[in-house]
Amino acid sequence: MTRHLLSIDDLDVTQIEEIFTTAAQMHDVQRREVKKLPALRGRTVINLFFEDSTRTRSSFEIAGKWLSADVINLSAKGSSASKGESLRDTVLTVTAMGIDGLVVRHSASGAAEQISRWIDVPVINAGDGTHEHPTQALLDSYTLTRRLGSLDGKHVVMVGDLTHSRVFRSNVKCLAKLGAQVTVVAPPTLMPAGVSDWSKEAGFATSYDLDRVLPEADAVMMLRVQRERMSGGFFPTAREYTVRYGLTRDRLGLLQPGVPILHPGPMNRGLEISADAADAVDSVVLDQVSAGVAVRMSVLYHLLAGEPALNEGGQA
Ligand code: NCD
Repeated sequence: MTRHLLSIDDLDVTQIEEIFTTAAQMHDVQRREVKKLPALRGRTVINLFFEDSTRTRSSFEIAGKWLSADVINLSAKGSSASKGESLRDTVLTVTAMGIDGLVVRHSASGAAEQISRWIDVPVINAGDGTHEHPTQALLDSYTLTRRLGSLDGKHVVMVGDLTHSRVFRSNVKCLAKLGAQVTVVAPPTLMPAGVSDWSKEAGFATSYDLDRVLPEADAVMMLRVQRERMSGGFFPTAREYTVRYGLTRDRLGLLQPGVPILHPGPMNRGLEISADAADAVDSVVLDQVSAGVAVRMSVLYHLLAGEPALNEGGQA
């Protein structure tokens, strides 16, 4: 049976914890002078990115290389996709070369799952439209557990452009599995349609009032305003967004001391997050980046190194 990481739904708590345990070991490798483990020697991984990326793609590339895999990066610009080749043909073509794993980012929600039905090598979803970004959620929770210990009962506040955020969708699932209480905050126009039913089912709270929620947070995660996915006006002006929903210098004073500030990047400094917040001593934005390599090493290891599959119900 094929093994994939398409959604946080593919993982149970034990498997998430197993990924974290391996990630902690991989994190130690990051501190070594020679950062190579032989685990994926002789395996080939393709990073197929149809959307722009700085940290996710380079993080998967570094993760694969530190595990001794051969990693090839392909982006839509510069590939035959820009000549009109279909997604299926592109995927079948690269798979026919004999790869062992495919990391894929695509602007269409559901693309990674669709691809996993076409090929029989592990597929890792590195972001599909506004649907999911499971490794981002894993690295966010991993960063939080290193900072806060168990997330059971911890209150995580997520703020920003929820409508367009796959990071939000993966994170509410991951945090719920780890026992955290989640409150999501956004202006009404950036609160996804149907969120009230979903929040009841999934057990998270919603709010339009950031100032009321911040004093009760154990962690705050700011999400980017995704202007590239917006077709119309979702808020009157950037200034008004910042006044109501930005993590401004004044709002930092509403947080309990020591509350970690997260952002998956790329940050719009001055819009959803001020420079004071992004560079605060409690900002863990760069910890998230370094955790990203360790968590992706762990995921690649579990999926490709011949270990029991993450989503086959066994202990990974
Ligand atoms: C996120 C993404 O691409 O979904 N970024 C990332 O992977 N680090 C969030 C975003 O683009 O705002």
